Amino acid sequence: MTQRISLTRYLIEKQRGSQGASGQGTIPPQLRLLLEVVARACKSISLAVTKGALGGVLGAAESENVQGEIQKKLDIIANEVLIEANEWGGHLAAMASEEMEGIYTVPNRYPQGEYLLMFDPLDGSSNIDVNVSIGTIFSVLLKDPEGPTVSEQDFLQAGSRQVAAGYCIYGPQTTLVLTVGDGVAMFTLDREQGSFVLTQENVRVPEDTQEFAVNMSNMRHWAPPVKRYIDECLEGKEGPRGKDFNMRWIASMVADVHRILTRGGIFMYPWDKREPGKPGKLRLMYEANPMGWLIEQAGGVASTGTERILDIQPTQLHQRVSVVLGSKNEVERVVRYHAEHT
Ligand code: AHG
Ligand code: MN
Ligand code: MN
Ligand code: MN
Repeated sequence: MTQRISLTRYLIEKQRGSQGASGQGTIPPQLRLLLEVVARACKSISLAVTKGALGGVLGAAESENVQGEIQKKLDIIANEVLIEANEWGGHLAAMASEEMEGIYTVPNRYPQGEYLLMFDPLDGSSNIDVNVSIGTIFSVLLKDPEGPTVSEQDFLQAGSRQVAAGYCIYGPQTTLVLTVGDGVAMFTLDREQGSFVLTQENVRVPEDTQEFAVNMSNMRHWAPPVKRYIDECLEGKEGPRGKDFNMRWIASMVADVHRILTRGGIFMYPWDKREPGKPGKLRLMYEANPMGWLIEQAGGVASTGTERILDIQPTQLHQRVSVVLGSKNEVERVVRYHAEHT
């Protein structure tokens, strides 16, 4: 019988590798503990999600978040689960979330650690009430050890400085997808045992694809390079691409990215002229950076259309970014179209 590797065993073996071994992909004990706590929190969120109406978790709350979005009850529940699970463990200095304006510093009654945790506690909120896959996205940075007390400034690091990133998708299966810098692994929740079990390692995104993910209703607002790319896809095999394309848009980034990590594809949430000052809809720190690192770790490309997402030096906690990520050859084509358009 093939041996089942639990998330705990996977992380302990990663940690063990870190004694003396150099380079990325091995993890210190405190990071292992942090990732185990995040996974446990995702299990609790998954439980709440599967209860749906029976758990009183559907529908909107009476509040608005810093993004100007009406919060869903599950946005708030998931946020609270992650805060409460992570604040006492001693591995974190502070947390930041889509659902909180400023940072959440670990209360003085608990020991402070060296890690910073950012998360989108419930991604795909518009899908909660219609029973479509949603998820949690997380990103881990190291706080500057010499720095003074932790502040928002500590979080403003480029995505290339992440030490761990992942998401948990609440779909027909609950699956945790994780990278610590040496590839991408997937863990499926065994509900009977209550543990995440390794179901895929060394995930690879195919370099080519015939499947694009974009919200087509925004087409008239896009910049010319994006419009050129999608127009060519729509012309199919009779057009310049010489092949037909399929379209998917789930409106949960976790579900669209999970499909791309599983079978390839290109995902785009580009700039559009309705709000010219806003580079895009998605948030850099807890959507584009963690998803961008996962895609890169699986051999894909993650760009704004003009620059690598993970190279962006953030200036604000909730800043937004244009996102083009997935199969290498397709993303590079979109980048080329941007360069040709200047
Ligand atoms: P969130 O629910 O965390 O606010 O994120 C939703 C995001 C992302 O998950 C998805 O790709 C995108 O919004 C969908 O946007 P549209 O509804 O405009 O298509
Ligand atoms: Mn989101
Ligand atoms: Mn969200
Ligand atoms: Mn939201």
